[in-house]
Amino acid sequence: MPKNILISRGLSAEALDLIPKDVAVDFNGHERPLSRQDLLARLQGKQGLICQITDTIDDQVLATPGLEVVSNVAVGYNNIDIAAAKRRKVVVTNTPDVLTETTADFAWALLMAAARRVVEADRYARSGEWRTWQWDLLWGLDVHGKTIGIVGFGRIGRAVARRALGFGMGVLYHDSVRATPEIERELRATYVDKDTLLRDADFVSLHVLLSPETRHLIDERALRSMKKTAVLVNAARGPIVDEAALVRALGERWIAAAGIDVFEEEPKIHAGLLPLTNVVLAPHIASASFDTRLAMSTLALKNCLAVLEGKPPITPVA
Ligand code: GLV
Repeated sequence: MPKNILISRGLSAEALDLIPKDVAVDFNGHERPLSRQDLLARLQGKQGLICQITDTIDDQVLATPGLEVVSNVAVGYNNIDIAAAKRRKVVVTNTPDVLTETTADFAWALLMAAARRVVEADRYARSGEWRTWQWDLLWGLDVHGKTIGIVGFGRIGRAVARRALGFGMGVLYHDSVRATPEIERELRATYVDKDTLLRDADFVSLHVLLSPETRHLIDERALRSMKKTAVLVNAARGPIVDEAALVRALGERWIAAAGIDVFEEEPKIHAGLLPLTNVVLAPHIASASFDTRLAMSTLALKNCLAVLEGKPPITPVA
């Protein structure tokens, strides 16, 4: 049986060495995503697709004759129509676990940067305006000893909670499923409803998947219910936060600050966020470390190759 795969773009070069000689690879080496037309055309005759979150994998793509597996190089898979994949018996895989710690590190980087005004400090230090040590320069918010509220207590949410222990923080969490008593004890985490979390947390960090239920989970009402001194961190998916409401919340100081890695319409960022100094913005890079990108690439390839060899994938999407 022929084995042909399309790599829609951007896998770590070292991972490509894993591909056996009898597998033919069509690799888009360009930085830009394939256009829809190109994706559909180049997928013809391929049994495997390794794709990124910028590729929309809908019913039409999944209907490609002979397609057996779609391997997403990401933990999130809201770019893929899972129901259509099930219907068409196309296996879908993602890359959980390997990016958990790196993503949690970055959520913390955003949290710390927003609380302690690191980006503003950097700009000021470079500006040539610094004349003398100054008592009231760039005061920020303490992190240690405060309370973090984690919305979505899966792998990444828990990794964020584990780091909070080192800062002597209280940990509140909310999720559709409550963690076991052992995990709550280990992470000293208290399960609360969403409203309580938003009301009581000094830092709110989002770690849910994007779904119709979580779209605009953080809307105007949610933002207004947070502390005026609160910091919001989003390293999950942009549409979980109503970006227009966030602009008003930051501009009118309903909350103190935010650290945002993901946006509603990437790569577009709401124009109202750009002039605000109390938000740290990043271009969707939470899992972007050298080691983790290689681990994601390797896992995505192994998932794809396993299915093509008739074996179960390592990390199928539920
Ligand atoms: C990145 O956003 C991912 O879902 O892995």
